[in-house]
Amino acid sequence: MFARGARWLSETGHKLNFPMSGLTQEALYAGIDMELSWSEHQLPQLERTKHVHKLHPYLGKFIPQLVEVFLERHFAPGTCVYDPFMGSGTTLVEANAFGAHSVGCDISAFNCLLSRVKTTQYSLGVLELSLRSTLEEARQAGPAPTDDASPWMRRWYSDRALGELLQYRTIASAQLEGPVHDVAKIILSRAARSARLTTHYDLDFPSKPAPRKPYFCYKHKRICKPVDEAAKFLARYTADTMRRIRDFASVRTNKLVEVIHADSRTLELPIQAQGVITSPPYPGLIDYHEQHRYAYELLGLEDRSAVELGRAKRGTSKTALREYIDGMTDVFTNAARQLAAEAPVVIVVNDSRDLYPEILERAKLRLERRLTRHVNRRTGRRAGQFFEDVLVCRVAGSP
Ligand SMILES: C[S@@+](CC[C@H](N)C(=O)[O-])C[C@H]1O[C@@H](n2cnc3c(N)ncnc32)[C@H](O)[C@@H]1O
Repeated sequence: MFARGARWLSETGHKLNFPMSGLTQEALYAGIDMELSWSEHQLPQLERTKHVHKLHPYLGKFIPQLVEVFLERHFAPGTCVYDPFMGSGTTLVEANAFGAHSVGCDISAFNCLLSRVKTTQYSLGVLELSLRSTLEEARQAGPAPTDDASPWMRRWYSDRALGELLQYRTIASAQLEGPVHDVAKIILSRAARSARLTTHYDLDFPSKPAPRKPYFCYKHKRICKPVDEAAKFLARYTADTMRRIRDFASVRTNKLVEVIHADSRTLELPIQAQGVITSPPYPGLIDYHEQHRYAYELLGLEDRSAVELGRAKRGTSKTALREYIDGMTDVFTNAARQLAAEAPVVIVVNDSRDLYPEILERAKLRLERRLTRHVNRRTGRRAGQFFEDVLVCRVAGSP
């Protein structure tokens, strides 16, 4: 075990949350939970993005294996896990595969759609036939007129790509309904993400559309052309989505999964949960609505970013941090109120500002262990090595 730690530490350039100087090696390793710190070799990207976990890109998700460990440590099959910051549904998917019921809540309508699509049980044959027929009809019809598209859409897409997306949207709405239509919406959103006028080196956080002409690509070190179509992405993601849903179906259980679009500060849980596994947003880092703006534009989803906690746009001023602490306190107080005393509340967060001692105290959560996890790798512009904490808490009993 220590050999693993030693290798990582020498590779990482010591980005630890606690002071290095004066610590013995043993003291250093003691602060890191080895079971949670996988190397790239032990846990390659393919495993971290297995089956439905990669139905659609999402910045700010935690890895499924982390959830697996905490399900094993603190929950039993048949119990119910609550995630007040459900995001792309990682906790729900893993809880289901583990054999637990789950409830997830998120303020972002797109994240709810994505989580629902990941966790729904489908009739696979019907789903595949329906998606293929929509794709084929859209291909035959060709691009739709783009005159009615929003100014945002016209700015971010070539005319042809936009026309193909709109055509697919129209045919999907006419042909499909219910959960099958929802899957088509995720395919459409993923294709829309790939078809934006962005440079290849700026897919995660494009701030403005790329020029509509060839450009020097820092990622590929050559001249690249901006994307001019969406049809190839629609076809590619239809096949990939089907494959991923099939893969998950082979490990899926029939346990209950509840996805709720709401503010978790005030949510009343529809069923009794036995504990929480979650990763809250962190102040000033990510705008969870804005990262999927194309989906909000295309699908007409309700935008509730005004009540999104910690959104990057609010920044990290004293006032923003105070608002964040109050908001998190409300979420965890509301969750704790609906759990039994001593229920586990597992919070994955990189609390570099040390905000959580106050949040936990005010929410009456008792910190049982603070585990430090080595995060081996992220992709895109966030690539790098760092450490994050897992706060393992218990709902405090009455005094
Ligand atoms: C760090 S992400 C969760 C990622 C998740 N663990 C996953 O693996 O996909 C935090 C989530 O909190 C959601 N959120 C922010 N404010 C919220 C609120 N008031 N109520 C519910 N969810 C909220 C954001 O929309 C975002 O999806």
